[in-house]
Amino acid sequence: MSAAFEKVAIIGLGYVGLPTAATIAARGIQVLGVDVREDVVGRVNDGGTHIIEPDLDIIVHSVVSTGKLRAIATPEPADAFVVAVPTPASREHKPDMRAVEQALTAVAPVLARGNLVIIESTSPVGTTRQAAEQLRGLRPDLSFPDLAPERADVMMAYCPERILPGNTLRELTDNDRLVGGLDQRSAERAEALYATFVKGTIHRTDAATAELVKLTENAFRDVNIAFANELSLICEASGIDVWQVIRLANMHPRVNILDPGPGVGGHCIPVDPWFIVDQQPKLARLIRTAREVNRTKQEHVADRIQRTASRFRDPRIALLGLTYKPNVDDLRESPAVAVAEKLIAAKAGQLFLVEPHLSGLPSRFNGKPGVHWSDLGEAIMEADIVALLVAHDQFRKIDRRLLTEKILIDTIGLLR
Ligand SMILES: NC(=O)c1ccc[n+]([C@@H]2O[C@H](COP(=O)([O-])OP(=O)(O)OC[C@H]3O[C@@H](n4cnc5c(N)ncnc54)[C@H](O)[C@@H]3O)[C@@H](O)[C@H]2O)c1
Repeated sequence: MSAAFEKVAIIGLGYVGLPTAATIAARGIQVLGVDVREDVVGRVNDGGTHIIEPDLDIIVHSVVSTGKLRAIATPEPADAFVVAVPTPASREHKPDMRAVEQALTAVAPVLARGNLVIIESTSPVGTTRQAAEQLRGLRPDLSFPDLAPERADVMMAYCPERILPGNTLRELTDNDRLVGGLDQRSAERAEALYATFVKGTIHRTDAATAELVKLTENAFRDVNIAFANELSLICEASGIDVWQVIRLANMHPRVNILDPGPGVGGHCIPVDPWFIVDQQPKLARLIRTAREVNRTKQEHVADRIQRTASRFRDPRIALLGLTYKPNVDDLRESPAVAVAEKLIAAKAGQLFLVEPHLSGLPSRFNGKPGVHWSDLGEAIMEADIVALLVAHDQFRKIDRRLLTEKILIDTIGLLR
């Protein structure tokens, strides 16, 4: 086994894969970026990016022009293969692992002795072991570490990603990293790969532990946000200001309650806890309940707006913010979008949608009756009800005097 990595293939060039590919290429290692989408392959080979992430375009342009990063549609031989493809949940909240399985099927024909296969996609416990079984079925001529620990032809590890979109390039290198090997030798080899670009500490463990750690991190966030969201419902029913309760409770030296909001969005926190619930339905009671509390919070917000609107003959409602979190343009699993859709379905009134991080009305709202794309000033002027859904910086500067004649539903406590 050679210590150096001459060529690394990254399978899946999305929010995780492309920054990882570019970062490794910037260290002088030859990187093959593999993606099933032709447009993505073409865009990267032109030195461009299809995702918005600060400075990513600069680094991709640089490593493509020096020939260190090349995008392709089908894997070619390499020393290491890193799988970073999507792992969504189905409607029934079951992990959809088809992209991982397809990626491994595509890698199998070019696998060789001494290779390292890493899964970075967020995955249920046991995925790396199953991946070894799948590869063995496709390549019976090779041995894998689940059945041949410390002496397998191919090494395999699970190495979860913890980046925060918007700060990906810095977090890719600065965050601590977890490498979970199917055996010790695989963990050491994976550590050697990450050591080429990670400045944070690299922690070695086994694959199943690493798989569960990733899910645990997001389930922890979900449970803690659910506590704040449940408290906000209790306070609302009791006529008590939840923000004051939290501020005062947090003066206790060992209490740190998070901020409530209209729900939980993004493609990780609302999805990953289900992977634990799916595997341990009888045991994961708190984790399941947290998911339900956070999901039903968005319904509660929509109901509250609708109830308020029903007091008007021709209700006009401004919804401030559509993205899943402040100061980004990402709508994935956004509670604000869910609130808007519920109000549209209920024909709650004229809706004035405001989203300063998008250039136009998202296509899902095109042609919906009573939906208007507005700027902040117009929406506030037109509306009877102003619902604050996302804590964008722009909304902090709202002139409170404009709201004196309005009913304000501040789900994030921004203007408290
Ligand atoms: N985005 C994040 O902040 C983040 C953070 C931590 C973990 N994750 C996890 O990382 C994984 C990837 O997430 P992402 O946000 O980068 O996804 P993404 O949707 O941005 O990108 C995935 C890419 O994989 C490609 N792809 C799909 N199937 C493929 C296949 N069989 N072969 C090659 N390419 C294929 C897609 O075309 C797409 O370009 C997921 O499991 C996600 O949960 C994401």
